[in-house]
Amino acid sequence: MNKLKELLAELKPAMAEISQQPGYPRAVYEPISYILGLGGKRIRPAMVLAAYKLFNEHYSPQVIQVAQAVEMFHNFTLLHDDIMDRSPIRRGKQTVHIKWDEATAILSGDLLQIEVYEKLAEVGDITILKLFNAMARELCEGQMNDMQFEQMAHVSNDEYLHMIHQKTAVLLGFSLQAGALLGGASTAQSQQLYDLGISIGLSFQLMDDYLDSFGETAKVGKRIGGDILEKKKTYLWNEMWNRLENSQQKEIESLYAEPDSEIITSVKRYMVQTGAKDATLNLAEHYNLKSLETLAQINTVGDQSYLSEIVYMLSSRDN
Ligand code: IPE
Ligand code: IPE
Ligand code: MG
Ligand code: MG
Ligand code: MG
Repeated sequence: MNKLKELLAELKPAMAEISQQPGYPRAVYEPISYILGLGGKRIRPAMVLAAYKLFNEHYSPQVIQVAQAVEMFHNFTLLHDDIMDRSPIRRGKQTVHIKWDEATAILSGDLLQIEVYEKLAEVGDITILKLFNAMARELCEGQMNDMQFEQMAHVSNDEYLHMIHQKTAVLLGFSLQAGALLGGASTAQSQQLYDLGISIGLSFQLMDDYLDSFGETAKVGKRIGGDILEKKKTYLWNEMWNRLENSQQKEIESLYAEPDSEIITSVKRYMVQTGAKDATLNLAEHYNLKSLETLAQINTVGDQSYLSEIVYMLSSRDN
């Protein structure tokens, strides 16, 4: 894990800088400082730098600014996502809308998004800005699909994959593409990096969904079983549901109707029994292998070890 550690160490001052958030009223800046200060894996800024390193050894101010922008944007999406998903815990601490209130989480999120655009204005690269805008639009579309799927009885695996492509993978794709472009990649190379980010992202969200049900709270830092309670139509859910007998489906439906039922335990048991848990891990592994193959096809003069280490690390993550 030395290469990733190296990137995270290089990012430290830039991450500390965005967590500062001086400004008044404190009530709107403090939650931004709080969420950014809690850290997280910082995988997106690390991906910006890792892609840059495929083409260039020495960082420019722009690549660091883009690394900051993607982490800020990610944290903005989390402030609003936690309201939408009614999540009480993130990164082992209370979410912003619980610690403060929903209005604060909305407004601090809005302000953080504005700070992203200020950062991108400093970068001053219209190509990057346009790619960012297209990505951000898609992410919001994906978040809406995710919400609408909660209300739907059935969602196909193709619809699910399209939704996670939008809500999660495009930001990872952008992170690699922007890092590569700033490092000097050609348009074709930067597109390859985008595609790589997509397959990393699909596997990333499949693992996120897996960990939401089968991870440990202490490591994941979220409420385990939140997706089950919110009726998220994940691949994990779909693979379970499609393999259940009619009577078992009815049993689950009745558990949702009862207050204080053992819904999380029961659904998890079925996810294991039906093989849905293993199917999810297998599909995540499929996208991991695809990522490694895509990476091997990318022709660069620079160091690939940073990016390959990130792919390996994500494939076995437990947080
Ligand atoms: C969580 O992202 C949101 C998803 C897109 C799944 P991360 O798992 O990268 O969260 P942090 O930043 O490490 O906390
Ligand atoms: C989050 O997906 C995607 C975005 C925030 C855009 P999730 O809702 O699964 O992320 P977590 O599990 O809350 O981190
Ligand atoms: Mg969500
Ligand atoms: Mg969520
Ligand atoms: Mg999740």
